[in-house]
Amino acid sequence: MATDRVVPGPKGKFFVGCAKEISEDRIAFLMSISRQYGELVRFTIFGQPVYLVTKPDYVKEILVTNNKDFHKSSLLRVARFILGDGLLTSEDDFHKRQRRMMQPAFHSQRVNDYAQTMIDYAVKHADAWNDLNGQPIDVWDEMMRLTLAIVAKTLFSADVEGEAHEIGDALKDVIKIFERVAHPLAGLSLMLPTPRNIRIRLARRRIARTINRIITERRASGEDRGDLLSMLLRAQDEDDGGVMNDTQVRDEAITLFLAGHETTANALTWTWYLLAQNPEVERKLHAEIDSVLSGMPPTPDDLQKLEYTRRVFAEGMRLYPPGYLIGRTAVRDSILDGHSIPRGSLVLVCPFVTHRNAEYFPEPMKFDPDRWTPEQQRDRHKFAYYPFGSGPRTCIGEPFAWMEGVFLMAVIAQRWAFDIERDHPVEYDPQVTLRPKHGMTMRLRSRADAQTAQAANE
Ligand code: HEM
Repeated sequence: MATDRVVPGPKGKFFVGCAKEISEDRIAFLMSISRQYGELVRFTIFGQPVYLVTKPDYVKEILVTNNKDFHKSSLLRVARFILGDGLLTSEDDFHKRQRRMMQPAFHSQRVNDYAQTMIDYAVKHADAWNDLNGQPIDVWDEMMRLTLAIVAKTLFSADVEGEAHEIGDALKDVIKIFERVAHPLAGLSLMLPTPRNIRIRLARRRIARTINRIITERRASGEDRGDLLSMLLRAQDEDDGGVMNDTQVRDEAITLFLAGHETTANALTWTWYLLAQNPEVERKLHAEIDSVLSGMPPTPDDLQKLEYTRRVFAEGMRLYPPGYLIGRTAVRDSILDGHSIPRGSLVLVCPFVTHRNAEYFPEPMKFDPDRWTPEQQRDRHKFAYYPFGSGPRTCIGEPFAWMEGVFLMAVIAQRWAFDIERDHPVEYDPQVTLRPKHGMTMRLRSRADAQTAQAANE
């Protein structure tokens, strides 16, 4: 096979390459170059070669078949500053061992145990809106608070509505650090003693202290509370019998805490936004929820029955995948379908672009949950949809996220609908996850009102 196929792409400007375009409007830039040059595109940022990969066959090569040639992006070194050697940032044998030890915590039986917490928290949260009927609320902020409370409860058994403010506030500071990941001088700028960097360091210390305290208390009591932290403390490597020390447990706990709430909150927020623009889909969703739940909160057993709800969530993540960009660095020279990818290149695998390609999803901008019927799925390339990545680094929290997404949608949509607020600007804020830049202000509409009106008309 020829190994010298040229990878097309924009030339960019002298010295800076495409640095300006990618930092100004990342999503528009990635969409436009893929439209113009295809499913494998090369460009540079300050001389650094970057490959945008969106063809399903190539995505599979990078994330699965040839994963050993591609490590996590070097930009993630900055994330190490916060996450230590957690699952998201570690590599090679260390990663493999940690993943092996943590996997049982995400097996379906274990995840099922978290279902009731998700349902209870969602009911409490949705009921707290009762005085806000007809009012605008920031749906993104609400989803962030709800998923944060759920991850804190399932991870630490901590009812963080109170304490979480301490952790939550510190986390918000720390999350900001990720915003610098896109900057080519990220590692250096973090070393500078600016007020912001000092705040981030203090926040990081505060989180470490809080979690260390929880770990010490838990080890001392020896209690198994059935939460993820208990799983981490008891996890044992099946090969060498080793366990995690406190630092490893802490790094993994912070990783799960960070990785485990913003992604789901974004997925839900964008899905509410899509539903508000698609009344027919919303109507079908309500019909399923009303018929499966008959006005009662869901039970963990209802998950399988909420099939359309699951499709709605899947379709929301197609159009707005929270992990819209999956970064890798080529650790050796490699060949991708005859194109050479030199060692040191940055490889950006982009679900956002693949998910909007008409070749795999006809009428890609149409919000159509029926794309996720088994028949429609059967005929589609398996790697045309990968909101959770794939291969050895695939999202460990995927079963957790599906369950959380479906139950939160069911509980909330049973009680409420959200209407678009015309004046509210909706723009992307593509940081590590795909956030809405100005939050997502929408108007709450009680479904009970609509049901009463309908009953009166019948
Ligand atoms: C809708 C929700 C979620 C989405 C879209 C999502 C997406 C992703 C993606 C794309 C990756 C792969 C990154 C890569 O290959 O570089 C990933 C990894 C990861 N996710 Fe998620 N995630 C979600 C929810 C969660 C939850 C709920 C948790 C934990 C409770 C979690 C924990 C993790 C961890 C620890 C990794 C690193 C896995 C490894 O490298 O071995 N995620 N996630």
